[in-house]
Amino acid sequence: MATEKDDVNIVKETSPHSKPLIEITSSDGELILKQFSPSDTQEIFELIDRNREHLSQNEEDTSDKYPTLESVEISILQPSNPDRLRFGIRDAQGTLLGSINLTPEKDNPHKGEIGYYLGKEATGKGYTTKAVNLLTDYAFNHLGYQELYGIVANTNKPSQEVLRRAGYKETGKEVLLFSKTISS
Ligand SMILES: CC(C)(COP(=O)(O)OP(=O)(O)OC[C@H]1O[C@@H](n2cnc3c(N)ncnc32)[C@H](O)[C@@H]1OP(=O)(O)O)[C@@H](O)C(=O)NCCC(=O)NCCS
Repeated sequence: MATEKDDVNIVKETSPHSKPLIEITSSDGELILKQFSPSDTQEIFELIDRNREHLSQNEEDTSDKYPTLESVEISILQPSNPDRLRFGIRDAQGTLLGSINLTPEKDNPHKGEIGYYLGKEATGKGYTTKAVNLLTDYAFNHLGYQELYGIVANTNKPSQEVLRRAGYKETGKEVLLFSKTISS
C-alpha cells in the first residue's frame, strides 16, 4: 500500500535535451517508478521481446505496438500522446520489471486512465499492485487528478485483481471499468 511517506523525486537526466523526469519511490524502497527516457530504449525492448506471448494474452496490444527497437525509441522521442506519463517499474537494484502509464482524458485533465504490464518473471509478487498504488497516490496528491480508471478485458482476472487490491471499484460491466475517486 502506498503511503504519504512515498518519496517523489524529480531527477534531471544528463542529456541537455531531456526534460526533468519524475521518479517515485515506495516508502520501503522496494519499488521505483521512473519516467521513461531514451536511454531506457534497449531495456524496454528486451523486456517486451522476451515476453511477447505473456503480453498478448487477453488481446493486449503492447507486443504489436513495439515490434522493433526503433518503434520503442520513437514512442519515447515522439510519443503519439505527449500528455501520457510512462514509467518503468524498477526494483531497488534498478532492474526493469515492467511499465505503468497514466493518460489524462482530452476534455477532462482531472480524470485519467491507468495501464500497466509486468514481465512474466516479475509476476506473482505484488509489484503491479504496489505500482498502481504509488501512481494513483501520486496522481491524486501531486497532479490534480480526481478520478482514475483501468479498462480491463473480462478474461483478464489478474489485472482485475490488481485494481481491486488497489481500491478500485468495478463501475462498468461491458468492458469492466474500474474507477477510484479522490475521496474513496
Ligand atoms: C496484469 C499483470 C501486470 C498482473 O500481474 P500480477 O503478478 O498478477 O500482479 P501483482 O504484481 O500485483 O502481483 C499479485 C500477485 O502477487 C501475489 N502477492 C505476493 N505478495 C503480494 C503483496 N505484497 N501484495 C499484493 N500481492 C502479492 C498476489 O497474491 C498475486 O498472486 P496470485 O495472482 O497468484 O494471487 C500481469 O498479469 C501482466 O503483465 N499481464 C499482461 C499485461 C496485462 O494484461 N496488462 C493489464 C492490461 S488491463
